[in-house]
Amino acid sequence: MPNLKVKLGKLELQNPVMPAAGTFGYGEEYASLIDLDKLGAIVTKGISLAPQAGNPPPRIWETWGGMLNSIGLQNVGLEIFVKEKLPFLCRWRMPIIVNFFGYSSKEYAECAQRLSDLEGVAALEANLSCPNIKKGGLQFGSNPQTVAKITNIIRKSTKLPLIVKLSSNVSDIKEVAMAAEGEGVDAISLINSIPAMAIDLERRRPALGGITGGLSGPAIKPIALKAVWEVAPRVKVPIIGVGGIMDYRDALEFLVVGATAVQVGTANFTNPRTMLEIIEGMGAFLKQRGIEDIKEMIGSLGL
Ligand SMILES: Cc1cc2nc3c(=O)[nH]c(=O)nc-3n(C[C@H](O)[C@H](O)[C@H](O)COP(=O)(O)O)c2cc1C
Repeated sequence: MPNLKVKLGKLELQNPVMPAAGTFGYGEEYASLIDLDKLGAIVTKGISLAPQAGNPPPRIWETWGGMLNSIGLQNVGLEIFVKEKLPFLCRWRMPIIVNFFGYSSKEYAECAQRLSDLEGVAALEANLSCPNIKKGGLQFGSNPQTVAKITNIIRKSTKLPLIVKLSSNVSDIKEVAMAAEGEGVDAISLINSIPAMAIDLERRRPALGGITGGLSGPAIKPIALKAVWEVAPRVKVPIIGVGGIMDYRDALEFLVVGATAVQVGTANFTNPRTMLEIIEGMGAFLKQRGIEDIKEMIGSLGL
């Protein structure tokens, strides 16, 4: 069997496949459907200091080739996460990456610090890119200066491996990624869902309760691939590719353009076994071609 192990800074993964934040809850719903220990890691739904109710319904809308969501970062908040969700996740061997966000740099820092004190958390993923909340989210990830500032504050608040998740909805993704790297992040996730909208024509109203939402799924894969391809040669830290990955071929395309690992989001809703099928498919693809190590695929794009 080919070697599928990869490293994200100090974090070692048995394979490069993990769920995308917010599409896998806290693992509970999926634990009865798939063996979580087969994943490279688990990434939690985004956590904030206080619980969030999220946006009004409807919060999900299917579109051609994708899905719109305006969940608005609904979550149980840090305290309940620690008491009720983390112990469940700690039953598995795979590393737990906690996705988190705040409404100010102070909140990001406090959240990072408190998560760092917890046993069982392997790494943090700071969401600097959510399109679904009015204050925070994308606002923090929109230009190199703000990304540098907030990353600097978060970096000082945690010794855990730190991943920042960026949006493609910026004028120059390369500059934003380089700004994050300059502040000492261990990896960069690219990309979040893309600000978008759908209309219910009969009612002449927005389809989503939150009016606008984030587009995800196959429709955004080409955008995500380009973002990874653009950023990969400019940073030394590993990149986690996210956006529209539905099968092992999609996942391997992200590795070819320079990602070290991948996250799978929307596909989990259509088939909860997608990630396991991707891991198996990657292994079979490499074996068939006599490739012994998945690392040979990373950044192997010929131009
Ligand atoms: C329902 C839903 C909830 C999400 N919640 C979060 C979140 O809490 N934090 C985050 O960083 N990204 C969140 N995302 C973005 C995904 O992690 C991912 O970046 C995006 O969906 C693109 O990947 P995909 O096309 O494979 O779904 C969410 C996406 C969806 C569809």
